[in-house]
Amino acid sequence: TILIVDFGSQVTQLIARRVREAGVYSEIAPFTQAEEAFRRLRPKGIILSGSPAGVPEEGSPRAPEMLFEAGVPILGICYGQQVMSHQLGGEVRPGHEVGDGGEFGRAYLTVTQDCALFDGLWKVGERHQVWMSHGDTVTRFAPGFEIVAISDGAPFAVIADEKRKFYGTQFHPEVVHTPDGGKLLANFVHKVCGLAGDWTMAAYRETKKAEIRAQVGDGKVICGLSGGVDSSVAAILIHEALKDSGTDQLTCVFVDHGLLRLNEREQVETLFRDHYNIPLVVVDAEERFMSGLAGVTDPEKKRKFIGAEFINVFEEEAKKIGGADFLAQGTLYPDVIESVSFTGGPSVTIKSHHNVGGLPERMNMKLVEPLRELFKDEVRELGRELGLNDQFVGRHPFPGPGLAIRIPGEVTKERCDILRKADAIYLDEIRKAGLYDAIWQAFAVLLPVKTVGVMGDYRTYDSVCALRAVTSTDGMTADVYPFDAAFLTQCATRIVNEVQGVNRVVYDYTSKPPGTIEWE
Ligand code: XMP
Repeated sequence: TILIVDFGSQVTQLIARRVREAGVYSEIAPFTQAEEAFRRLRPKGIILSGSPAGVPEEGSPRAPEMLFEAGVPILGICYGQQVMSHQLGGEVRPGHEVGDGGEFGRAYLTVTQDCALFDGLWKVGERHQVWMSHGDTVTRFAPGFEIVAISDGAPFAVIADEKRKFYGTQFHPEVVHTPDGGKLLANFVHKVCGLAGDWTMAAYRETKKAEIRAQVGDGKVICGLSGGVDSSVAAILIHEALKDSGTDQLTCVFVDHGLLRLNEREQVETLFRDHYNIPLVVVDAEERFMSGLAGVTDPEKKRKFIGAEFINVFEEEAKKIGGADFLAQGTLYPDVIESVSFTGGPSVTIKSHHNVGGLPERMNMKLVEPLRELFKDEVRELGRELGLNDQFVGRHPFPGPGLAIRIPGEVTKERCDILRKADAIYLDEIRKAGLYDAIWQAFAVLLPVKTVGVMGDYRTYDSVCALRAVTSTDGMTADVYPFDAAFLTQCATRIVNEVQGVNRVVYDYTSKPPGTIEWE
């Protein structure tokens, strides 16, 4: 295991991913809990992350001293390098005090000495592209360190103390703009820390199955399926772990709230019942949701109603099957990592998200969360391990409140049906053009606006449909997908011709921020 000490950098998670890509398990701990995490994990190496803070700033974070005395290799990245230099007896000063403006973005370094990090990768005298982002400068090194690479703005691009196996990079090896960054990190974990790199999804699958069996015993598990990748993979893994017990310990519940995409319910039924033979309860709750949504136009009221009603339905079903001891959830690692915040204060609620929070307490169930340690792309890999096809594991995210938040204004069954058709045509075109996997999320929105059109010799007066497609890595920020005009024209033509109720199509050109991905 590698322990990653987080000082609040935006890209700390990427360090964990690169280490895992090198076949080594890694966990992130906030610097305030790093000592406890070290004692629990007994890591073979430590990586100190970057930070928005500066070492010379008062109150900026420090690593627990014991980490430097544990006899374990350490790699400090950016702030991590500077804080290590500072804590081990060097000096760090704001760049402007020493006539150094810092470096931001692409930079080049020159290798000046061999070092274990460069083994088999970089040679003395070579120049390599890296990605820098720092305003402070190490003005004096801690005893024992040597410079092994320099850049124009950083005479300390890489430093090394080979005796203690402490290394520091001023640049960020974890980001893609440092092309050899992944290999440098792999060198650190394999060659410096001596870890074999045998952490694979196949191994994870077996470890987790054993853990699930140990946790659940002969208890009963209930799992809410959404049709998405996370809950499906969690359910299939739990099923695999428990299926040989001879009793049906796992029951999946799929609530059809009438806000699903075209054929979504049938796909879930086929996959779970026919393919995996997992006990599945499908609740037809469309009417209940539609009558509750009648007259509701405020986005937050829609979200709150759907979230609460979902829990009601789920609870009723759980009681019908005689209750359960455990609730399975597809919680992922990014939801678990405690973020290090320097801004203090609670962040404002932009949208209230839909989940089954509160249910376990109400029903006195414990949680089974077999994906808690995984990133999204790792869940997809595990899904493939478990036999799900590429098309399924590559599905775009779909929000819990479903189509309701893609129909501004009042939601009715009729409007859901119109939107389902338009959305299916749009996605069909995207798949045919081979663009599905290049897009984070693509969907249609049905606007509560009617406009005049002409078809044949007739005047039409129908709704506007907006198309949205974005690229993103985590849904936190997003860019508009730049379709070419011919593609959008083709979608518009098909939707207006094939979907009754829509006579105009527009494309949403807003990035996030300032827009959000969903319209409500
Ligand atoms: P926004 O619209 O906030 O969406 O930019 C960011 C990502 O979150 C998804 N989303 C949800 N997912 N429950 C979910 O599980 C929700 O209530 C919810 N609302 C938005 C959205 O689809 C996008 O991927």
